This record gives sequence, C-alpha cells and structure tokens, in this order.
Amino acid sequence: MSWYEDLSLWSGFSDVLFSAERARHAAELVATSPLLAFPPGSRVLDQGCGVGFFAVPLARRGHRVTGVDIHRELLDRAEAEAAGTGSGASFVRADVREYVSPDAFDVVVNMYTSFGYFDEHDDNLQVLRNAYRSLVPGGTLIVDLLSKEIYASWVGPPKIVDVPGGMVVMRDTILDDWTRYRTDWTLVRGDRAEHTSLTCWVYSAAELTDMVAQAGFEKVECFGNFAGGPYDGGATRLIVRGTKA
Ligand SMILES: C[S@@+](CC[C@H](N)C(=O)[O-])C[C@H]1O[C@@H](n2cnc3c(N)ncnc32)[C@H](O)[C@@H]1O
Repeated sequence: MSWYEDLSLWSGFSDVLFSAERARHAAELVATSPLLAFPPGSRVLDQGCGVGFFAVPLARRGHRVTGVDIHRELLDRAEAEAAGTGSGASFVRADVREYVSPDAFDVVVNMYTSFGYFDEHDDNLQVLRNAYRSLVPGGTLIVDLLSKEIYASWVGPPKIVDVPGGMVVMRDTILDDWTRYRTDWTLVRGDRAEHTSLTCWVYSAAELTDMVAQAGFEKVECFGNFAGGPYDGGATRLIVRGTKA
C-alpha cells in the first residue's frame, strides 16, 4: 500500500491537516481570493478534496462542485458538511490518476498540496491530463502547492506543532537531488507516540509550469499567494493557473 492510500495518515493527523483553523482559512480564501472567483454557477471539480475544505465553501457560493478523493471516510465528512447547506456538491470516491469526466467542468482545482504523490512522475502528469480532459474549452485549472523554492526556504530542523492534547513533531528530508522529500510525523499525546511518513515529489515553478503546458494548457501563469501576487521571493504558495484552449 502506498502512503497516500493509508487512511490512518489522513485521519490520525487530522488535527493538523483538517483543523478547524484550516477550514476557516480555506473558506476565507474562497470568499476573497481573485484566483478562486469563478463565474456564478461554475461546474467545479476538486481533485483530492479531502473533507471538503474548498469544495463546500465553493458549493455554498453557488458553484456545482464535484469533489474526488480516494478515501470514503473523508468524503463522508465532506458530505456531512455540505448537507443542509442547500449546496450543489457531490462527492466521488476515485483515484485522481483515473478520474476523468470529459468536458464536464468549467474549473478544476487541486488544492493544498494534493499533487506530486505518485512514485512515477508520469502519474503526476496524468492527474493534469485528466484535469484537461475533464474541462470544457476555455476552462480553468488551479493547482496550489508548496513548491521547491518555498520548501527550500523553511526546510531544516524539526518543527513542532501543537494539537489538542499533544503535539506533532515534523521532520523533512530532501531526497534524490531535490526531486522528492520525505516528511516524518510523530504525534505525541501523553505517553503515546504515533509515527507516519510520506514521500512526495517537490516541483519548482518552472517544472510545474512545464507539466501544466505538457498536459495541454495554455496561458499558464504562476502566483505567489491567493491575493494574486507575483511568484517571487515573498511567495507563500505556488499557485499555477492554466486555460484549456
Ligand atoms: C493534503 S490533503 C488536501 C485535501 C484538500 N484538498 C484540502 O485542501 O483540505 C490531500 C488529499 O488527497 C487525497 N488523495 C491522496 N491520494 C489520492 C489519490 N490517489 N486519488 C484521490 N485522492 C487522493 C487524500 O485522501 C487527501 O484528502
């Protein structure tokens, strides 16, 4: 089993990945970011939607959202969150390497570093190709992640993040000449420690831009934050936008 198929990673470390603070922040980005301001009633595909932190607020804004994730349990949480909001959100359990719905969406989003998980670079590219095929002509792709440049500015000594009743110790190791990294997480609560580890590709802006273009997209642009600022030395995220011609 690959690390991303292991539900215990996503649910065990849920206090970090899917915290209430992250939910609020994602909802605020959906409400304020010019990069997430799609025409009313857009059909939006959220690749690797998790518990719906972006999918649900997008649906609340009146978009018709389909969230895709490999873990049923996370989708159940997203569905529960969407229920009762009168939103047009649906959730599909599928692998993003396989999920394609030709010409069905106006927008595809891939948020919060849900990209670069697969051992083979070509499988990561396939996720972008699937986004391209799923979009109508003129449709928009948004990929949001931590890039190589941003990662390089903070990788170093282990970091500690407080979570309810304990803490998570995070250690990062750069692998294979800066093509990948491994993150080791140890969750400590009382006298119990739980460990998990994940290995991801880490792409630079130039590398990801090339991949997005290779998948067929045009007008490929990079942004360094959700306000639409430049991807420069002050960038906090890499957000790549592309258009299907
Ligand atoms: C870092 S989380 C981000 C979730 C969500 N985009 C957010 O902003 O909260 C990455 C998500 O990708 C999902 N995932 C991992 N591998 C996947 C795959 N092969 N196909 C579909 N989803 C996958 C995980 O289950 C997880 O929910």
